[in-house]
Amino acid sequence: MFIRPMLALAAALSASLPVHAAEVPYPAGYRAWTHVKSMAILPGHALYEGFGGLHHIYANAKALAGYQSGRFKDGSVIVFDLLEADTSGNALSEGKRKIVGVMHRDAKRYAATGGWGFEGFAAGDPKVRAVGNQAKTACFDCHAPQAARGYVFSSWRE
Ligand code: HEC
Repeated sequence: MFIRPMLALAAALSASLPVHAAEVPYPAGYRAWTHVKSMAILPGHALYEGFGGLHHIYANAKALAGYQSGRFKDGSVIVFDLLEADTSGNALSEGKRKIVGVMHRDAKRYAATGGWGFEGFAAGDPKVRAVGNQAKTACFDCHAPQAARGYVFSSWRE
């Protein structure tokens, strides 16, 4: 029977191929979703280098249900909208968009990164993928300690 050798060959081949993260869709229309929270990361903060600026977090309807129940179903999408923080005139205002970070829930498709697909669209351009196959090291490894909360840091408040 050659089923067994064929399976062994397939396994050997897939083990030797580079891992390609499944593509994460651009979150069209997210500005009209539910606003979860905002935060400003200013100079001096440990994450200023990568995440400095003013960010807003948005959830689609499924993700909002996930924030409320603690279980995020497939199709949940959360957006981390990072803008420059303009501190002129003793005010903190939104500046240019730096990146649109996305977490897209699909337990099977993104099994390698906790069931979430991670991507960042540079300057909010749907065509410019800043993360691609680096999702595990660039994003997931830092979210991993939040496993008990579905890998999500932020929480919903009434
Ligand atoms: C150094 C740790 C770290 C890294 C790396 C990181 N994140 Fe996060 N992420 C956070 C923290 C902390 C929050 C919560 C921010 C808040 O409460 O305003 C967050 C929030 C988010 C959210 C909103 C949902 C949530 O978990 O609260 C999304 C979406 C997100 N990150 C996407 C990404 C993407 C995409 C990448 C990779 C480009 C990434 N993150 C890399 C720490 C990280």
